[in-house]
Amino acid sequence: MAKFIGILTAGGDTPGLNAAIRGVGKAAMNTYNMQIIGFRDGFRGLMENRIVRLDSVALSGILTVGGTILGTSRDKPHKMPIGGKKMDMTGVMLENYKRHNLDALVCLGGGGTAKNAYRLAQCGMNVITLPKTIDNDVAMTDITFGFDTALTIATEAIDRLHSTAHSHHRIIVVEVMGHNAGWLTLGAGIAGGADVILIPEIPYDVNKVAESITERRRSGKHFSIVAVSEGAMSTDLAKDYQKARDELDNAKEKGDKPARKAAKAKLAEIEKRRAASTHELTRQLEQLTGLESRVTILGHVQRGGTPSPADRLLASRLGTACAHYIDEGVFGVMVAVRGNDVEPVPLEDVVGKRKNVPLDHPWVCTARDLGVSLGD
Ligand code: F6P
Repeated sequence: MAKFIGILTAGGDTPGLNAAIRGVGKAAMNTYNMQIIGFRDGFRGLMENRIVRLDSVALSGILTVGGTILGTSRDKPHKMPIGGKKMDMTGVMLENYKRHNLDALVCLGGGGTAKNAYRLAQCGMNVITLPKTIDNDVAMTDITFGFDTALTIATEAIDRLHSTAHSHHRIIVVEVMGHNAGWLTLGAGIAGGADVILIPEIPYDVNKVAESITERRRSGKHFSIVAVSEGAMSTDLAKDYQKARDELDNAKEKGDKPARKAAKAKLAEIEKRRAASTHELTRQLEQLTGLESRVTILGHVQRGGTPSPADRLLASRLGTACAHYIDEGVFGVMVAVRGNDVEPVPLEDVVGKRKNVPLDHPWVCTARDLGVSLGD
C-alpha cells in the first residue's frame, strides 16, 4: 500500500529548502511509490489544514529557487498565537495528521523546529526532521543546509568591503548573522581575510581590538575589516548576561515568579544592548584608533537567493535519505550528517542543545595563526 507523507518548513527560511522538499518528494514518489502533501507556513498550516499537493509538476523547477515554496513561520505547536493568546494546538495538529491518513510528517528546520517536531512525536505522530539553518548551530549534525550559501554571500560581501575600506583608509565593521553561534562569522571572516573576527563564543575587549588595528596601522596598513557576529558580546555585556541567566535559572529552580520576571526583564534589556552593540563597537573603534569607521549589517541578504551547489547537493542527499528512512519506518529522528555518512539521530539527542564553535576548533586555531584578532 502507498504511504502518505506530509512535509512542512518551519523557522527562518534557508537556501536549499526547496532542493530538500524536491529530494524528499522525488525519492518518495519515484523510488517508494508514496504520495506527498505539503503544509503551508510551518506548523500553522498543519493546524489550519492548509495543504498543497506535491506531485511531480509541483516539484519541478524548484531545485535552484531560494526560500521555500511552502512558506514558513516561527509559530510553535504548543504556543500558537490565536486571538492575542498563545494556545496549545498540538491536538488539532494530530487530528489533521490523521485526517490525511499520514504515515509520516517531515519537518524541515533548525533546533527550534526539532524541538517542536519532538513534541508532535510525543503526541503519536511519525515525525522525521532535516537540519536546515544558515547558522549551522544544530546539535548532532556536522553541517546544516543553507550554511554554505550564507557563508558564500558573507565572504563575497567582505571581499567587496575590502576595496572600499582600503581606498578610504577606514575601519569597516561588518555584522554577520548566525544567531548565538559564530560559525558564519568565523568562516566568512577567515575566507574573506578579515583582520578582526568577533564571535559569541569569545567575548571581546574593545581595547584589545583597537590595539590590533593600531598595530596594523603602524605596519603601514591604514584600513581594517572587522567581522562581528550579530550575537557577539563585549566582556562587560557577557558578564551582565551570565549574571541575568544565573538569576533566571535560580528563580526557576525556586519557583520564585517575581524573581523570574525580573531576570527576564534584565535579559530583554541586555538583548537590546546587544542589538545596538555593533554600532557602539564601530563608534568606540573610531574613537580609540582615530580611523574613520563605517558599519555594514548584512542581515537577511545572507538568507536570500539561489542555493549554492554544495547546499543543493546536501539538501538533495538528506531529502532522499529521509524518504528511505520513512520507507524503513525509522521515526522520531533527525537525518544528520556524521562524517562522510548520513545517519538518523534520535530527536531527544538533538533538542535543547546548540552546536557552538568549540574554543579549540581548527578554524579558531587557523584564525589565530593567521594573526587575526579575536578580541580576547
Ligand atoms: O536562524 C536564522 C536566522 O537568520 C539567524 O541568523 C537570525 O538571528 C534570525 O534567523 C533572524 O530571524 P528573523 O528572520 O525572524 O528576523
